Amino acid sequence: MSTKGDVLALLNQSENISLSGEEIAKKLSISRSAVWKAIRSLRSDGYGIVASTNRGYRLEKGNDILSAPAIKSMLDNAKEYEIISLEQIDSTNSYLKKAASEGAKDGTVVIAESQTNGRGRLGRRFVSQSGGLYMSLLIRPELSAEKSLFITTATAVAVCRAIEKVTDKNVGIKWVNDIFLNGKKVCGILTEGASDFESGRLEYAVIGIGLNIVEPVGGFDSEIRDIATSLFGEGAPSGTKNALAAAILNELSVLLKNPYGKETADEYRRRSIVIGKEVDINHNDSIARAIIIDIDDNAAIVLKTDDGKIIKKTSGEISIRI
Ligand code: BTN
Repeated sequence: MSTKGDVLALLNQSENISLSGEEIAKKLSISRSAVWKAIRSLRSDGYGIVASTNRGYRLEKGNDILSAPAIKSMLDNAKEYEIISLEQIDSTNSYLKKAASEGAKDGTVVIAESQTNGRGRLGRRFVSQSGGLYMSLLIRPELSAEKSLFITTATAVAVCRAIEKVTDKNVGIKWVNDIFLNGKKVCGILTEGASDFESGRLEYAVIGIGLNIVEPVGGFDSEIRDIATSLFGEGAPSGTKNALAAAILNELSVLLKNPYGKETADEYRRRSIVIGKEVDINHNDSIARAIIIDIDDNAAIVLKTDDGKIIKKTSGEISIRI
């Protein structure tokens, strides 16, 4: 990340505690004047940063404005992104799929404060009230369509890394595309795309990420109240949304270079919250009870059913038995 992004991430992690310029400089191994420049630039992006004489700097809460220039300024430039930020849209994935079919370029990103028709996997609705980060990224990778599941698994790893860099929360992955915090879903990923039938290559993929940052005013919609959570309760430190968006894009620019690398598979497994869990799984048109014994390098879950059979699945859904 850029110095500015690093300073913002550090202030974010410290939540209510102030940090002096000297502490920030020491932690990030930069000069105090670099700290001061970063603070000044963050303020001009609209971040509320309180400075008190004896204590130092602290981010104000509830000042989480989505800003494309602020996100851009925190990118590490490993990949070129074009960022479009919107107040509201039906679905960032739908928007970008249309743009992709009209020739939009690799690296186009659309981010919205809320969605009126957010879409989840398996044709489900994805409730997208304000308080979340709803973003989609268009990529045109050199990848065969059959390997597209790795885009989702690499993204899950990227989102976890970004959350842990920007906040003090620890998150895990529920196979295949959900990020969980304290036993509840905090983020969902929907990868869609189009492939060229002749070559079998992906023409493009649109990676959609829906991350709950704060609880919406009035609480989560009743449809998801029992299963959803947010990274922060009422107010996130100012700038969290932009910092998370930038951190996710920075991680993706590394991970998507080789989405099916062994290291990514290992990290996905390590972050999994389902290995060792008993689940109900749809198998041969009926629901089977099984225990998940592994996730293999192809991102398939390996299950042992009640009658001792070993099966592998690369798609579908599992429901964890409590
Ligand atoms: C799921 O949980 O089933 C996946 C949810 C994916 C939601 C994101 S929000 C941004 C993008 N736009 C959409 O309409 N969906 C994805």
